[in-house]
Amino acid sequence: MPSPKVEQKLPDYYECVARDVVEMCKPRDGVWVDLGCGEGAVAFALAELSRAVLVLVDPNREALAEALRRARDMGLSQRTVALCGRAESLPLVDDSVDLVVSRGSIFFWDDRPAGVREVYRALRPGGKAMLGGGLGRSYPLWARREFISRRREGVRQEGPAAVRAFAEVRSRDAFQGWAEEAGLHSFEVIGEAALPEDDPNTGLGLWLIFEKEQEQP
Ligand SMILES: C[S@@+](CC[C@H](N)C(=O)[O-])C[C@H]1O[C@@H](n2cnc3c(N)ncnc32)[C@H](O)[C@@H]1O
Repeated sequence: MPSPKVEQKLPDYYECVARDVVEMCKPRDGVWVDLGCGEGAVAFALAELSRAVLVLVDPNREALAEALRRARDMGLSQRTVALCGRAESLPLVDDSVDLVVSRGSIFFWDDRPAGVREVYRALRPGGKAMLGGGLGRSYPLWARREFISRRREGVRQEGPAAVRAFAEVRSRDAFQGWAEEAGLHSFEVIGEAALPEDDPNTGLGLWLIFEKEQEQP
Protein backbone atom coordinates (compact mmCIF):
# COMPACT_ATOMS: atom_id res chain seq x y z
CA MET A 1 0.00 0.00 0.00
CA PRO A 2 1.41 3.47 -0.85
CA SER A 3 2.23 5.50 2.26
CA PRO A 4 0.09 8.65 2.69
CA LYS A 5 1.69 11.86 1.38
CA VAL A 6 3.01 14.01 4.24
CA GLU A 7 2.33 17.67 3.44
CA GLN A 8 5.16 20.07 4.07
CA LYS A 9 4.25 22.86 6.49
CA LEU A 10 4.24 26.14 4.59
CA PRO A 11 5.85 29.29 6.03
CA ASP A 12 3.64 31.92 7.65
CA TYR A 13 2.35 34.54 5.19
CA TYR A 14 0.77 37.12 7.47
CA GLU A 15 3.84 39.31 7.79
CA CYS A 16 4.01 39.42 3.96
CA VAL A 17 0.35 40.48 3.82
CA ALA A 18 0.94 43.15 6.48
CA ARG A 19 3.92 44.52 4.58
CA ASP A 20 1.74 44.86 1.44
CA VAL A 21 -1.00 46.62 3.39
CA VAL A 22 1.44 49.21 4.70
CA GLU A 23 3.14 49.68 1.31
CA MET A 24 -0.08 49.88 -0.69
CA CYS A 25 -2.24 51.93 1.68
CA LYS A 26 0.43 54.02 3.41
CA PRO A 27 -1.99 54.37 6.35
CA ARG A 28 -1.46 56.90 9.10
CA ASP A 29 -1.21 55.55 12.65
CA GLY A 30 -4.40 55.77 14.68
CA VAL A 31 -7.10 53.11 14.78
CA TRP A 32 -6.72 50.10 12.48
CA VAL A 33 -9.47 47.52 12.01
CA ASP A 34 -8.96 43.87 11.05
CA LEU A 35 -12.42 42.96 9.71
CA GLY A 36 -13.27 39.25 9.67
CA CYS A 37 -10.12 38.89 11.72
CA GLY A 38 -10.55 35.26 12.80
CA GLU A 39 -7.83 34.81 15.42
CA GLY A 40 -6.25 38.16 14.54
CA ALA A 41 -3.20 37.08 12.54
CA VAL A 42 -3.34 40.03 10.13
CA ALA A 43 -3.77 42.55 12.94
CA PHE A 44 -0.89 41.11 14.96
CA ALA A 45 1.41 41.17 11.94
CA LEU A 46 0.41 44.82 11.38
CA ALA A 47 1.16 45.57 15.03
CA GLU A 48 4.83 44.86 14.32
CA LEU A 49 4.84 47.62 11.69
CA SER A 50 2.95 50.39 13.48
CA ARG A 51 1.86 51.87 16.80
CA ALA A 52 -1.83 51.87 15.81
CA VAL A 53 -4.62 50.70 18.10
CA LEU A 54 -5.96 47.38 16.75
CA VAL A 55 -9.70 46.77 16.52
CA LEU A 56 -10.60 43.15 15.78
CA VAL A 57 -14.06 42.53 14.32
CA ASP A 58 -15.56 39.11 13.63
CA PRO A 59 -18.95 37.40 14.15
CA ASN A 60 -17.20 34.40 15.74
CA ARG A 61 -16.86 34.92 19.50
CA GLU A 62 -14.56 31.93 20.03
CA ALA A 63 -12.15 33.23 17.39
CA LEU A 64 -12.18 36.65 19.08
CA ALA A 65 -11.48 35.07 22.48
CA GLU A 66 -8.51 33.22 21.01
CA ALA A 67 -7.32 36.46 19.37
CA LEU A 68 -7.42 38.21 22.75
CA ARG A 69 -5.42 35.37 24.32
CA ARG A 70 -2.85 35.77 21.56
CA ALA A 71 -2.79 39.56 22.09
CA ARG A 72 -2.06 38.98 25.78
CA ASP A 73 0.73 36.49 25.00
CA MET A 74 2.29 38.96 22.54
CA GLY A 75 2.10 41.87 24.98
CA LEU A 76 -0.47 43.66 22.79
CA SER A 77 -3.46 43.75 25.18
CA GLN A 78 -3.19 47.49 25.80
CA ARG A 79 -3.52 48.16 22.05
CA THR A 80 -6.20 45.59 21.19
CA VAL A 81 -10.00 45.80 21.24
CA ALA A 82 -12.28 42.96 20.08
CA LEU A 83 -15.81 43.59 18.80
CA CYS A 84 -18.29 40.94 17.82
CA GLY A 85 -20.02 42.00 14.60
CA ARG A 86 -20.43 41.62 10.88
CA ALA A 87 -19.22 43.69 7.95
CA GLU A 88 -22.81 44.41 6.87
CA SER A 89 -23.53 46.19 10.14
CA LEU A 90 -20.21 47.30 11.57
CA PRO A 91 -20.13 47.98 15.32
CA LEU A 92 -18.25 51.24 14.66
CA VAL A 93 -19.46 54.83 14.58
CA ASP A 94 -19.09 57.03 11.48
CA ASP A 95 -15.69 58.53 10.65
CA SER A 96 -13.89 56.71 13.46
CA VAL A 97 -11.04 54.59 12.03
CA ASP A 98 -7.93 55.15 9.91
CA LEU A 99 -7.53 51.77 8.21
CA VAL A 100 -9.74 48.76 7.55
CA VAL A 101 -8.03 45.58 6.38
CA SER A 102 -9.99 42.47 5.62
CA ARG A 103 -8.23 39.36 4.37
CA GLY A 104 -9.99 36.19 3.31
CA SER A 105 -13.33 37.32 4.75
CA ILE A 106 -15.28 39.23 2.05
CA PHE A 107 -15.93 35.92 0.27
CA PHE A 108 -18.09 34.87 3.23
CA TRP A 109 -20.13 38.07 3.66
CA ASP A 110 -23.84 37.74 2.89
CA ASP A 111 -24.11 41.22 1.37
CA ARG A 112 -20.75 42.45 0.06
CA PRO A 113 -21.85 45.89 -1.25
CA ALA A 114 -23.44 46.58 2.17
CA GLY A 115 -20.16 45.58 3.84
CA VAL A 116 -18.12 47.85 1.57
CA ARG A 117 -20.55 50.73 2.27
CA GLU A 118 -20.17 50.14 6.01
CA VAL A 119 -16.38 50.19 5.76
CA TYR A 120 -16.56 53.53 3.92
CA ARG A 121 -18.91 54.93 6.56
CA ALA A 122 -16.60 53.93 9.43
CA LEU A 123 -13.44 55.39 7.85
CA ARG A 124 -12.28 58.84 8.83
CA PRO A 125 -11.79 61.20 5.85
CA GLY A 126 -8.44 60.21 4.36
CA GLY A 127 -8.70 56.72 5.91
CA LYS A 128 -7.89 53.71 3.74
CA ALA A 129 -9.38 50.27 3.17
CA MET A 130 -7.92 47.11 1.66
CA LEU A 131 -10.40 44.24 1.32
CA GLY A 132 -9.85 40.90 -0.38
CA GLY A 133 -7.45 38.02 -0.15
CA GLY A 134 -3.92 37.01 -0.96
CA LEU A 135 -0.63 35.76 0.42
CA GLY A 136 1.59 38.81 0.07
CA ARG A 137 4.06 39.85 -2.62
CA SER A 138 7.11 38.84 -0.57
CA TYR A 139 5.77 35.34 0.14
CA PRO A 140 7.99 32.94 -1.82
CA LEU A 141 6.70 31.76 -5.18
CA TRP A 142 7.18 28.05 -4.36
CA ALA A 143 5.02 28.45 -1.25
CA ARG A 144 2.34 30.42 -3.12
CA ARG A 145 2.18 27.68 -5.75
CA GLU A 146 1.91 24.97 -3.14
CA PHE A 147 -0.72 26.88 -1.14
CA ILE A 148 -2.88 27.52 -4.22
CA SER A 149 -2.53 23.95 -5.44
CA ARG A 150 -3.65 22.53 -2.07
CA ARG A 151 -6.56 24.95 -1.81
CA ARG A 152 -7.77 24.21 -5.34
CA GLU A 153 -7.61 20.50 -4.62
CA GLY A 154 -9.64 21.06 -1.43
CA VAL A 155 -12.35 22.96 -3.32
CA ARG A 156 -12.35 20.40 -6.16
CA GLN A 157 -13.10 17.67 -3.65
CA GLU A 158 -16.25 19.55 -2.62
CA GLY A 159 -17.64 19.19 -6.16
CA PRO A 160 -18.39 21.32 -9.24
CA ALA A 161 -20.88 23.64 -7.53
CA ALA A 162 -18.25 24.57 -4.94
CA VAL A 163 -15.66 25.15 -7.68
CA ARG A 164 -18.11 27.49 -9.49
CA ALA A 165 -19.06 29.39 -6.32
CA PHE A 166 -15.40 29.73 -5.35
CA ALA A 167 -14.45 31.24 -8.72
CA GLU A 168 -17.51 33.52 -8.95
CA VAL A 169 -16.56 35.60 -5.91
CA ARG A 170 -12.87 35.69 -6.80
CA SER A 171 -13.01 37.77 -9.96
CA ARG A 172 -12.10 41.35 -10.79
CA ASP A 173 -15.63 41.89 -12.17
CA ALA A 174 -17.20 40.75 -8.90
CA PHE A 175 -14.99 43.10 -6.86
CA GLN A 176 -15.70 45.99 -9.21
CA GLY A 177 -19.44 45.29 -9.05
CA TRP A 178 -19.48 45.33 -5.23
CA ALA A 179 -17.58 48.62 -5.13
CA GLU A 180 -19.92 50.23 -7.67
CA GLU A 181 -23.02 48.94 -5.92
CA ALA A 182 -21.66 50.31 -2.67
CA GLY A 183 -21.54 53.73 -4.35
CA LEU A 184 -17.77 54.23 -4.23
CA HIS A 185 -16.66 57.01 -6.59
CA SER A 186 -13.02 56.09 -6.56
CA PHE A 187 -11.38 52.72 -5.97
CA GLU A 188 -8.84 50.28 -7.36
CA VAL A 189 -9.09 46.55 -7.89
CA ILE A 190 -5.61 45.06 -7.73
CA GLY A 191 -4.56 41.59 -8.83
CA GLU A 192 -6.11 38.55 -10.39
CA ALA A 193 -7.37 35.54 -8.48
CA ALA A 194 -7.86 32.69 -10.93
CA LEU A 195 -4.29 32.45 -12.16
CA PRO A 196 -2.75 29.10 -13.09
CA GLU A 197 -0.34 27.69 -10.51
CA ASP A 198 2.66 28.22 -12.81
CA ASP A 199 1.93 31.95 -13.23
CA PRO A 200 4.54 34.04 -11.32
CA ASN A 201 1.72 36.11 -9.79
CA THR A 202 -0.20 33.12 -8.49
CA GLY A 203 -1.41 33.55 -4.92
CA LEU A 204 -0.97 37.31 -4.82
CA GLY A 205 -4.75 37.48 -4.71
CA LEU A 206 -7.29 40.15 -5.37
CA TRP A 207 -7.84 43.34 -3.42
CA LEU A 208 -10.26 46.27 -3.41
CA ILE A 209 -8.48 49.41 -2.21
CA PHE A 210 -10.09 52.78 -1.52
CA GLU A 211 -9.77 55.95 0.49
CA LYS A 212 -12.52 57.99 2.13
CA GLU A 213 -12.80 61.38 0.51
CA GLN A 214 -11.32 64.28 2.44
CA GLU A 215 -13.82 66.81 3.79
CA GLN A 216 -14.18 69.94 1.63
CA PRO A 217 -12.74 73.04 3.38
C1 LIG B 1 -11.06 32.50 6.21
S1 LIG B 1 -11.33 33.38 7.69
C2 LIG B 1 -10.08 34.65 7.55
C3 LIG B 1 -9.55 35.02 8.90
C4 LIG B 1 -8.37 36.01 8.87
N1 LIG B 1 -8.77 37.29 8.32
C5 LIG B 1 -7.18 35.47 8.11
O1 LIG B 1 -6.76 36.08 7.12
O2 LIG B 1 -6.65 34.43 8.53
C6 LIG B 1 -12.84 34.27 7.38
C7 LIG B 1 -13.35 35.06 8.58
O3 LIG B 1 -14.44 35.89 8.16
C8 LIG B 1 -15.39 35.90 9.20
N2 LIG B 1 -16.72 36.31 8.65
C9 LIG B 1 -17.68 35.53 8.08
N3 LIG B 1 -18.75 36.28 7.74
C10 LIG B 1 -18.45 37.56 8.08
C11 LIG B 1 -19.14 38.81 7.96
N4 LIG B 1 -20.36 38.89 7.43
N5 LIG B 1 -18.54 39.92 8.43
C12 LIG B 1 -17.30 39.86 8.97
N6 LIG B 1 -16.60 38.71 9.10
C13 LIG B 1 -17.16 37.58 8.65
C14 LIG B 1 -15.36 34.48 9.74
O4 LIG B 1 -15.92 34.39 11.04
C15 LIG B 1 -13.86 34.17 9.69
O5 LIG B 1 -13.23 34.50 10.89
